[in-house]
Amino acid sequence: MAKNAVITGWGYYAPSRVLTNADLERIVDTTDEWITSRTGIKERRIASDGETTSTMSVRAARAALEKAHLRAQDVQLVIVGTASPDYLFPATACLVQAEIGAMKAGAFDVEAACTSFISALAIARGLIVSGVYENALVIGAETLSRLLNWKDRSTCVLFGDGAGACVLEATNASVGIESTVLHGDGSKGELLMVPAGASKLPASADTIERGLHFITMAGGEVFKLAVKSMADAAEEAIAEAGLSLDDIDVLIPHQANIRIIEGVAKRLHFPMEKVFVNIQRYGNTSAASIPIAICEAEATGRLRRGDKVLLVAFGGGFTWGAAVLEWFGAHDGMRPPSPLERAAQVLEDVVERVRPA
Ligand code: UT7
Repeated sequence: MAKNAVITGWGYYAPSRVLTNADLERIVDTTDEWITSRTGIKERRIASDGETTSTMSVRAARAALEKAHLRAQDVQLVIVGTASPDYLFPATACLVQAEIGAMKAGAFDVEAACTSFISALAIARGLIVSGVYENALVIGAETLSRLLNWKDRSTCVLFGDGAGACVLEATNASVGIESTVLHGDGSKGELLMVPAGASKLPASADTIERGLHFITMAGGEVFKLAVKSMADAAEEAIAEAGLSLDDIDVLIPHQANIRIIEGVAKRLHFPMEKVFVNIQRYGNTSAASIPIAICEAEATGRLRRGDKVLLVAFGGGFTWGAAVLEWFGAHDGMRPPSPLERAAQVLEDVVERVRPA
């Protein structure tokens, strides 16, 4: 069995259409000043007609596979974390799997709202470390713009669309994901939800009339719990990895609100200089926010080989979780051992053990 699961490829896609706060001033009763000071968001990306969660996932997935030098036909598992799938079913992961040609892969979606990416990462890591799979394509993607009530200023200014993907591979090297923690509190589910469109309230003229297919959120309640829960999960994941906060080089939090991110950093006594923030350009892309941030952190030199990275998220459900990993980066000829190489290693070990002294 492999010792670790390591990220060997990463990629993202953000739609080209930019919606600025000034644009929103023309749609709802809001101001750039309010949005910037309350959330840190300046602009967000909005999917164009024809773009969906699966099409954006495919773009991100292809970039991640290329970076990992992994062929789609060799991918063993595709997991998409999303709260805004193309359909209730089939799973978005199946659409992605077919489109990229990962025909030997298992495929399913994970829905834990903004915690979906960390949840999917935790599942993939577990399946790799337990020996079930050698690799997995883990995607976080959302088209939340299609679930927003563009007349509700308290929600429509917050969210954006996009997708991010990571390739995870088995390795015996001491790199990769060191811990994951996941939590939930379903008693608070109604504070952030899309009330209708599934089995409890199927779509009807009435549900449409009452606007029940849009995201509803008690923002203040979510805010308060987000800060505490993310800080608690971060500490738990760090302890589980056998590290202390001082060991963490980069914190990549879910990008929901700059005040939440600052609140988490303050609660942890963690310097903001080590926190990666890109919310100003994307808004809250839910499941996509952490993988997009990973890509941008790497591209801007904020993530380097050997860095200890802390990921932390909070979202509807409620759900929250964190992960600690040591960043490996691109292969550069240091690809973690293949199954054949691993088998050769085992054989070598056995020969070594039985060889007379
Ligand atoms: O991804 C995980 C899930 N989501 C989150 O983590 C989001 C968590 N919540 C938040 O980020 C914040 O609670 C919000 C950004 C949503 C709201 O910030 P707030 O400081 O909690 O504002 P508020 O909801 O208390 O509203 C303050 C005022 C209200 O007016 P009154 O009642 O005081 O007169 C709102 O009607 O701001 C008003 N308001 C706005 N004004 C201008 C709400 N939205 C807007 C807006 N523009 N877009």
